[in-house]
Amino acid sequence: MARSMVDAAQDPGARHLPVLLDRVVALLAPALDVPDAVLVDCTLGLGGHADALLSALPNLTLVGLDRDQDALALAGRRLARHGDRVHLVHAVYDQLPAAIGELGFASVQGVLFDLGVSSMQLDEADRGFAYARDAPLDMRMDQQAGPTAADVLNTYPAADLTRILREYGEERFASRIAAAVVRERAKAPFDTSARLVELLYAAVPAATRRTGGHPAKRTFQALRIEVNSELDVLRAAVPAALQALAVDGRIVVEAYQSLEDRIVKRVFADWSASRTPVGLPVELPGHGPRLRLLTRGAEQATEAQIEDNPRAASVRLRAAQRLDDGVAA
Ligand SMILES: C[S@@+](CC[C@H](N)C(=O)[O-])C[C@H]1O[C@@H](n2cnc3c(N)ncnc32)[C@H](O)[C@@H]1O
Repeated sequence: MARSMVDAAQDPGARHLPVLLDRVVALLAPALDVPDAVLVDCTLGLGGHADALLSALPNLTLVGLDRDQDALALAGRRLARHGDRVHLVHAVYDQLPAAIGELGFASVQGVLFDLGVSSMQLDEADRGFAYARDAPLDMRMDQQAGPTAADVLNTYPAADLTRILREYGEERFASRIAAAVVRERAKAPFDTSARLVELLYAAVPAATRRTGGHPAKRTFQALRIEVNSELDVLRAAVPAALQALAVDGRIVVEAYQSLEDRIVKRVFADWSASRTPVGLPVELPGHGPRLRLLTRGAEQATEAQIEDNPRAASVRLRAAQRLDDGVAA
């Protein structure tokens, strides 16, 4: 077991500060301070947000989802003191409806998404999420399922590699990098990150390196999104979560890159708009807004919050409340 894993197992809270914790609790609490309230934490991670919410709200039951078995084990240990108020489910978050259904909950009062990888996943070198150390090109959040980053690099046609680098990494040099990958893998397949990072240093011009950050940053993001189907899953999960919210239930989403935030923004905009045909003098029953936005645009962290927790630097937080549109749960 790697050293950081041991630290986390002993005290999962010790090296992880949940992002915008007070704000998340303040936004969710009004919906959760009712008898029999249920919160689904779709990205349980090390259970930091979940622990704070369970402590603040004595009536709260938590359903914690994570696709990473290691995260569930660590969070389970951290949350054990809350006893049978905690249900942990190994699931991808678009499986939220089935997860709550199996536990007998028809609807829930709160949903939280804190997207991306956890500090534990980044710290575990052999998971392959970080480009700073040579490690197997894995990047699967669920280590039991699906292709690895090495599989993507070694098998995708150049056109598909170009597409994912461009779409998911917003990488200007996508086709140049894809061509270099195809050329190099013909010599020997990729297995660890150092060789890929070296290739990226050669493929991304020095001038871009000065302004665009580490040359591996965008390619690693793209591979991670592809390996875990992150955007497709999120596109399905946010509407499913809104569907599961009871009237007055609240949702908070913390996104760390624009592709994810854009998906959340679009779904929230759609659900907060009226569907009554333009020109009708009154709202048609079942056609009114289904959501009230609780944040103006996306909230960002203050300088002080970023100083406390550097991971907050890129956070975009959106929150909303389910409205009674005549058909809500
Ligand atoms: C940023 S961490 C969450 C940290 C957590 N809020 C805390 O305070 O400890 C994100 C977690 O979500 C999980 N995750 C990411 N995408 C997921 C998905 N599609 N389905 C289920 N879990 C996912 C990751 O495995 C990771 O453990």
